[in-house]
Amino acid sequence: MGWSSWNSFSNTVDAQNVMAQARAMASNGMKQAGYQYINIDEGWWLGKRDADGNFVVDEKAWPALQPGEKAGDMANIVRFIHSLGLKAGIYTDAGKDGCSMYPDLGPKYFDTGSEGHYEQDFLQFARWGFDYVKVDWCGGDKENLDPAVQYAEIARAIARAEKITGRRLYFSLCEWGKQSPWTWAPHVGGAPADIWRTSGDIVDPIVAGQAHADRKAGFDKMLGNFDQGIHPEAQHTGFYNDPDMMVIGMPGFSDAQNRVHMGLWAISGAPLLVGADLAKLSTDTLAMLINKEVVAVDQDALGLQAVKVAEAEKGVQVWSKPLAVSGSRAVLLLNRTTTAADVKVEWKDIGLAENPPAGVREIWSGKDAGNSKGSYSARVPAGDAALLLIKGTNMPGTGYKPESQGNDAAPCRGCELTFSHVGARGPWARIRISYRNSTQAPRYVELRVNGQDATSIALPPAGPDVGEISIMARLDRPGATNVLTFSSDTDLTAVIDAINVE
Ligand code: GLA
Repeated sequence: MGWSSWNSFSNTVDAQNVMAQARAMASNGMKQAGYQYINIDEGWWLGKRDADGNFVVDEKAWPALQPGEKAGDMANIVRFIHSLGLKAGIYTDAGKDGCSMYPDLGPKYFDTGSEGHYEQDFLQFARWGFDYVKVDWCGGDKENLDPAVQYAEIARAIARAEKITGRRLYFSLCEWGKQSPWTWAPHVGGAPADIWRTSGDIVDPIVAGQAHADRKAGFDKMLGNFDQGIHPEAQHTGFYNDPDMMVIGMPGFSDAQNRVHMGLWAISGAPLLVGADLAKLSTDTLAMLINKEVVAVDQDALGLQAVKVAEAEKGVQVWSKPLAVSGSRAVLLLNRTTTAADVKVEWKDIGLAENPPAGVREIWSGKDAGNSKGSYSARVPAGDAALLLIKGTNMPGTGYKPESQGNDAAPCRGCELTFSHVGARGPWARIRISYRNSTQAPRYVELRVNGQDATSIALPPAGPDVGEISIMARLDRPGATNVLTFSSDTDLTAVIDAINVE
């Protein structure tokens, strides 16, 4: 959760506007609501290096901010951001050139990428004190590089920088979904956590007083990014699909559209990175961004993504996100058509028992709508959505023990555990994985479902107990014929205990 400079400042970003944004976040309620990152995007560096390959940064844009500091040292702005109890993010490109070769404002700059300097640049970011780095793909794309290869190298450079400095650098991949990053980005290069963009930009920058200041953000574009961001099988325990910085509060969006946008990002469990100018947010927009219940839906501990469970007619959709509290779901009734519609969510479609009746709460109005048996309907205006919190009783799941444990021919006996007779009620199932991990660090395992792309799953330390994490899996085979294979390069027999499918 945080703010990014790109949407509202483009390459006019400098210490003055970053400080103003950080001050706003620290004082307008956002920090208390959980927003913490102040991310500096493209434009902070114009591609100059010294003879040793170090970044040379414009001293006027990034001056000394207090006595004893040197102009042109990015540690100054980091210190300022940290002094407000916030975290700082920075930006580069995986290629030789960065996106500054395609400027939105002002002249072109080349050589604004990190290719050939990965070790040096990520170490420098960590030494400056940054907590987060976004790595764009303009140069990589131009050179036709393989993103899975480049981003793995970058993840390893980040890990080395972290080891040297003792600082954690959160990794944000920005490859726009071109080469299906959800199939390779989780845990790429050993990254302990990361987010990856799933689509292009919702809007080009809208910078007050500059060219293009009359641009508007488009609702359909935002909806398109939401759709492209849905890859529930890849998202869990630290790995997240990123449908782009939000445009809430930017020109072009009505209050209702801002609300729909926030609801969509929340049920996606998406990063809540605000692109608007925080110093100019209206009271209503700010209230949406810091609404406790919406933020809780987004940040829910399971970290899962909503799946579409019904579409009674084209564009009239029901989305459901399982939440950590047993029997709880965040449900979005989304009307994408041009006329008002009654939208109905049925308990059976979201894995809840018909009885006892489930409690329904309308999140935006904060009103409890009473208990409802079997289903709940609401009239949703055209282009709008109702965001519900439903508390019912989970339909019982089915437990499975692993059936086969690989063989000596696999990397090792027990390196592959297969569950081959798994049944499910719908195309998407929540799978609870019971595991053991008494070490201090997460264990990573690969999961392949029905021969689909494998994904990496983190099993956090669980001490002496059995731990549990949840994932969403597409169990698209009929009856009890779905096959789930966990694999690792070490024996998993004492790690994966059982799974439970809901
Ligand atoms: C790309 C990214 C944006 C932003 C710009 C900067 O378009 O997708 O989020 O970082 O580059 O140029």
